[in-house]
Amino acid sequence: MEIVLQAASVEKIGISSKRLKFGVVLFLILLPVAVIVYSLYRNSGFVNIEELSEAEDSPQNSAIPLERRVHNNYTVSLVLPGNGTAAEERVTTKNITTASGSKNASLSTSTNDSTSNFVNPDDNDKLLGGLLTSGFDEASCKSRTQFHLLRKASPHKPSPYLVSKLRNYEDLHRRCGPNTKAYHKTMMKIVRSKNHDTATMCKYVIWTAAHGLGNQMISMTATFLYAMLTDRVMLVKFEKDKLNLFCEPFLNSSWILPKNSPYWSWNKQNTEIYQTMIENDKASNSKEGLPSALFINLRFSRQNPERFFHCDHSQDLLRKVPLLILQSDQYFVPSILMNRIFNLEMIKMFPERDTVFHHLARYLFHPSNEAWEQISSYYNTHLAKADEQIGLQIRLFNPSTPKQAIMHLVLRCITKHNILPELDDLQTSTSRKNQTIKAVLVVSLYREFGDNLRSMYLNKPTVSGEVIEVYQPSNEGRQKYNDDKHNMKAWIDMYLLSLSNMLATTSLSTFGYVAQGLGNLKPWLLYRQLDNKTHSEICERDFSSEPCYHTPPRHYCNGDSMTGISSSFPYLRRCRDLYFGVKLAVNSSV
Ligand SMILES: *[C@@H]1O[C@H](CO)[C@@H](O)[C@H](O)[C@H]1NC(C)=O
Ligand SMILES: *[C@@H]1O[C@H](CO)[C@@H](O)[C@H](O)[C@H]1NC(C)=O
Ligand SMILES: *[C@@H]1O[C@H](CO)[C@@H](O)[C@H](O)[C@H]1NC(C)=O
Ligand SMILES: *[C@@H]1O[C@H](CO)[C@@H](O)[C@H](O)[C@H]1NC(C)=O
Ligand SMILES: *[C@@H]1O[C@H](CO)[C@@H](O)[C@H](O)[C@H]1NC(C)=O
Ligand SMILES: *[C@@H]1O[C@H](CO)[C@@H](O)[C@H](O)[C@H]1NC(C)=O
Ligand SMILES: *[C@@H]1O[C@H](CO)[C@@H](O)[C@H](O)[C@H]1NC(C)=O
Ligand SMILES: *[C@@H]1O[C@H](CO)[C@@H](O)[C@H](O)[C@H]1NC(C)=O
Repeated sequence: MEIVLQAASVEKIGISSKRLKFGVVLFLILLPVAVIVYSLYRNSGFVNIEELSEAEDSPQNSAIPLERRVHNNYTVSLVLPGNGTAAEERVTTKNITTASGSKNASLSTSTNDSTSNFVNPDDNDKLLGGLLTSGFDEASCKSRTQFHLLRKASPHKPSPYLVSKLRNYEDLHRRCGPNTKAYHKTMMKIVRSKNHDTATMCKYVIWTAAHGLGNQMISMTATFLYAMLTDRVMLVKFEKDKLNLFCEPFLNSSWILPKNSPYWSWNKQNTEIYQTMIENDKASNSKEGLPSALFINLRFSRQNPERFFHCDHSQDLLRKVPLLILQSDQYFVPSILMNRIFNLEMIKMFPERDTVFHHLARYLFHPSNEAWEQISSYYNTHLAKADEQIGLQIRLFNPSTPKQAIMHLVLRCITKHNILPELDDLQTSTSRKNQTIKAVLVVSLYREFGDNLRSMYLNKPTVSGEVIEVYQPSNEGRQKYNDDKHNMKAWIDMYLLSLSNMLATTSLSTFGYVAQGLGNLKPWLLYRQLDNKTHSEICERDFSSEPCYHTPPRHYCNGDSMTGISSSFPYLRRCRDLYFGVKLAVNSSV
């Protein structure tokens, strides 16, 4: 499985050729290369393998898009989450005390009366302005009531319309969710009535996983939006690797697809395929009965076929299919927004256009008690006392790249943009009395990054006099090839990053997307190493905290090539980190 998006095919999707200057060739390479890269890493001698945690991803994954630019002396590559590399491996640089350890008692997660020590926002704020609903059993999901102890208040309130849509959705989910009469009745009907139009009491969309946890979380969020817009109940097909990460999001119901569902494992016998249906329908216009269950693949793919998912025509067909099985590794919200009817709804739901992920992800993803214990413990032990927290996410780079060069780039970015102060080499600073503490959370494959940064700031004062502390979460479990452990660490790291005041992330990383969206952060995007002759930036501030959709539609519904995304769709813009990707923004101006 290899995709090489060469200049020619790249041009078809309408990129400025500037980006291709200086003979820089852009490749998108899938799994095999990354696996090789990954194994090179593991054996590179740069890192003591013993010290690395497991980095495999969930078994469903099959592809790792990888962007690479070749430069003068070396190559820097950026890798999206995939099963060969997954989220960062982590190295132990600090001893993390477990929940009962050095945690500040007043922030305890395990006692219910401790929260009274805090001056809390009012109930409305605790429920994020109505985004969340009350009535959950607090003990079963502590993060739901305690998140505000760690997370700064968001300036974005959900619209009353979004709140009412969510409450309506919850009602629907309670009525049609697993273990209800309606669920059993409807499922039976769907199974029985394979190929003739079926009207059912409830309709469903079953989310299935692809790629790493970051990809999965952004695609779940998009699927949930789609479910709300189409009055479908979203069920998630969670394997063991995800069962312990999140709380149930919907009151008095479950979003987990029951193992005994006939659609736990779909196949061509019981499920038609969307792409085929769309193509057949276009060709013949035949009016056979619509299937009762349909598989939709919206994954990134080598062929990247046009899905026409944004078109009325497709949605009209889909509306009549009671059960959809949807698989995607993408945040396909922009393609939902491109649909006229959904667009009208979304504008009402999200008057602040660039807050779709921010609201929906905070609604859906509450860390399980196990995750929350570790998140709050790490936060309270290391990060809470700092005046400011900086998240630094440095993803996998090409093994031939000297670590020092990457370090140099990262430092240039963060000092140039005053994310961290420069060192006071001459030690002449007069402002050394400044006792502002900045805590840097480094999330990276290599302990070198955390170690270098730490020793750098330990050994010399900064020009601003600020104290810089550097932390890199550990890999305490060290159980390799154990997906649930791995996902747990990835989730904890994403959540911790999202608590930052400022974030610098590696381009294209869905891991970073989740953190920035949860935290309402516009990250500094660390780009590839760039030839200094190109005058390109090492890093740039993103314009929105929304995730980037890497494979947007390339055609209008009439088949014409899509040009001028922003003029056609006022709230979409090309991504900074992927020129053919699109994402939501407050407006289209650049
Ligand atoms: C990645 O996933 C594919 C498809 O599930 C599988 O065939 C492959 O073995 C996986 N690779 C690794 C390294 O786990
Ligand atoms: C880097 O490239 C320059 C010119 O392109 C060359 O002179 C130099 O030797 C190279 N350095 C290394 C370490 O390869
Ligand atoms: C980490 O903690 C363990 C157990 O408390 C202790 O034995 C070990 O010395 C600690 N390591 C470091 C580097 O502090
Ligand atoms: C715990 O936090 C409170 C409030 O921030 C602080 O006053 C107290 O000193 C802390 N205790 C410890 C042991 O760190
Ligand atoms: C704390 O929780 C326990 C059980 O979870 C309950 O019995 C007790 O009343 C609670 N205490 C307070 C002060 O709410
Ligand atoms: C949820 O369940 C609890 C306990 O069974 C019940 O008291 C409550 O009314 C339910 N809430 C809703 C909205 O159905
Ligand atoms: C410390 O430095 C920071 C950043 O330069 C500045 O914002 C802050 O006002 C300074 N604080 C003091 C007490 O000088
Ligand atoms: C590129 O940048 C490096 C380091 O900043 C510098 O040493 C080198 O002279 C620059 N090269 C050119 C051609 O400007």
